[in-house]
Amino acid sequence: MQEIENRYHELVEKLNRHNKLYYIENAPEISDEEYDTLYKELERIEVEHPGLKVDYSPTQRVGAGEVDSIDTVTHEVKMLSLDNTYNEEELRSFLLGVIDAVGHNVSFTVEPKIDGASVSLTYENGKLVRGATRGDGSVGEEITHNVRTIPSIPLTIDDERRLVVRGEVFMPVNSFESLNEERERNEQALFANPRNAAAGSLKLKDSTEAAKRKLDMFTFGLDVGRGDDHHSDLKYLKELGFNVNKRLTLCKEIDEVIDAVIAIENERDSLDYEIDGAVVKVNEYHIQEELGQTIKAPKWAKAYKYPAERVKTRLEDVQFQVGRMGTVTPVAYLEPVKVSGSTVSRATLHNADEIERLGVRVGDIVALEKGGDVIPKIIRVYEDERKGDERGIVFPEECPSCSSRLVRESAYYKCVNPECPAIVRGALQHFASRNAMDIEGLGEKLIDRLVDEGMLSTPDDIYRLDYDKLRGMDRLGEKSVENLADAIEKSKEKPFSKVLYGIGIPSVGIKTAEVLAEEFGSIDALMDADLQSLERVHSIGTLVAEDIVKTLSESRVQRLIEGLKDAGLKFSAEKKQTGSTLEGLKFLFTGKLSKSRKDYEDSVKAEGGRIISSVSKNLDYLVVGEDAGSKLEKAQKLGVKTINEDEFNKLLQGD
Ligand code: IVH
Repeated sequence: MQEIENRYHELVEKLNRHNKLYYIENAPEISDEEYDTLYKELERIEVEHPGLKVDYSPTQRVGAGEVDSIDTVTHEVKMLSLDNTYNEEELRSFLLGVIDAVGHNVSFTVEPKIDGASVSLTYENGKLVRGATRGDGSVGEEITHNVRTIPSIPLTIDDERRLVVRGEVFMPVNSFESLNEERERNEQALFANPRNAAAGSLKLKDSTEAAKRKLDMFTFGLDVGRGDDHHSDLKYLKELGFNVNKRLTLCKEIDEVIDAVIAIENERDSLDYEIDGAVVKVNEYHIQEELGQTIKAPKWAKAYKYPAERVKTRLEDVQFQVGRMGTVTPVAYLEPVKVSGSTVSRATLHNADEIERLGVRVGDIVALEKGGDVIPKIIRVYEDERKGDERGIVFPEECPSCSSRLVRESAYYKCVNPECPAIVRGALQHFASRNAMDIEGLGEKLIDRLVDEGMLSTPDDIYRLDYDKLRGMDRLGEKSVENLADAIEKSKEKPFSKVLYGIGIPSVGIKTAEVLAEEFGSIDALMDADLQSLERVHSIGTLVAEDIVKTLSESRVQRLIEGLKDAGLKFSAEKKQTGSTLEGLKFLFTGKLSKSRKDYEDSVKAEGGRIISSVSKNLDYLVVGEDAGSKLEKAQKLGVKTINEDEFNKLLQGD
């Protein structure tokens, strides 16, 4: 056994080292095949001897499954943000101000400002023990399970001290685009930009999903465990195996700083990750301390923000799209052009007011700006570049899909014909989509065909499909009909919240549907609810409450609900089975345990207890395994109760 244990630790160390050589140093020493062989050996040992498994094992990179909840953490050192400057003059005056205050013996660093999500990573005894989001700077969220999956974040380092490292987790533009393409195919909501995608991925409960998101991180600071200055600390962090951006410059003169900021801006387009500026910092820590900080930001650093990217292109056409709620949106079709690393050929024109405000015509040369959204905006028209053959855009008075008269609701025109093919198709697509009933095989194309054939018009028709008729249809093989039938049958198992979301109440997204399902428990209770009782629910505002009451009182919707009830769909929520033996108690596990930490933590949560991430007076029990270190010491100092695994198991049994 000792031999296996030694081999296990040797493999963990070896694979973590090769990971660093591959991802950080770009200098692999072994082939992918050799890596795979070692990895498989490690995996085998973990399956055969689960007690040996450590949470800094490279197998954690693929994700360790789902956590029940995301806990909050109080940052040891407040995670400061940055004040912005927007032009050279402002930046020069900041630099001059610093030199005036502290003299000429100061140097500055310049580095890209990565547009992602800020994290702090804590290392103890050479192991990554915690990852946290910035949150409000004082309290963030514990996301260790997800940061462990990021290949460029070391799980082990060659420094036994306690280190708190800061960095920006980002999603490369290419990964962002393929993620959104996949989400579009699955009819999931798109991420507005790589920053939101990175932040959203970090907050996933399921680390196996986070592992697929192709995240990366640039390290930009050391909060605990510092040396003398920022530049040499970043150099040291790079040696330890962190990814440090290579566009880091150390400058003595103001002009050098300005040149470095401009040099990064010039490279902006060629980078495969998004940056929104450059960061200028005083290099020496003792000077940083002398300058101090405000509540939010240090006085020794500034972000220099680059302007939002703008490009010129031609508006080739405008088409009007009818959404599943009947809203008609003008979509601009553009001559394809590159902005912020991605090719753009469409933009939204929002509504009739926006077209009028811009005074835009088809054929115009327009300026596009990519701000925070995936869909760029047309911000102006170059009227002086008109040739005379441009044509005005006329907003239709009739629905482009069913020709019924559009109705104006504030700035929007809507089709209010419930039988409009665009609305019918949209409602069916939404119902079958992944976040709703997830009926694989029932995509846009098949829905269109079935609507055309008169076989589908409302979602409950899906459960009355005539499979014999389907089998007789062109290009629909026996196997796909069988798969579709299975997927439809399986969808009947979907929880009430998904059914509720699938019905398509305006302004009820999946999160709201979950809240409603939990609060009201059944469709009957929800249909009985009045405006006041809906508004009493945390997170539901007046407009949402109005939409719910109005929609559920429509006879068309009531017929749909009856039809879906007849099909056997779930219209009441199942109560979660949880115990309460540990209700309200807070636990923390430390040291080597005989079961995985996650198993223990799951049992605490299942019995109503909570896991907190550091030792404080608030902690009720520290459960101590072998070789416990600083946490045990701290608990003893604070007088927190410490128990061993046996004692914990007894507590769990309610003894
Ligand atoms: S330094 C105390 N350096 O920008 C110093 N921040 O707008 C704090 N960011 O919260 C920040 N790249 O998440 C620093 N090279 C960089 C950065 C960077 C991106 C983010 C960071 C910070 C935000 C402030």
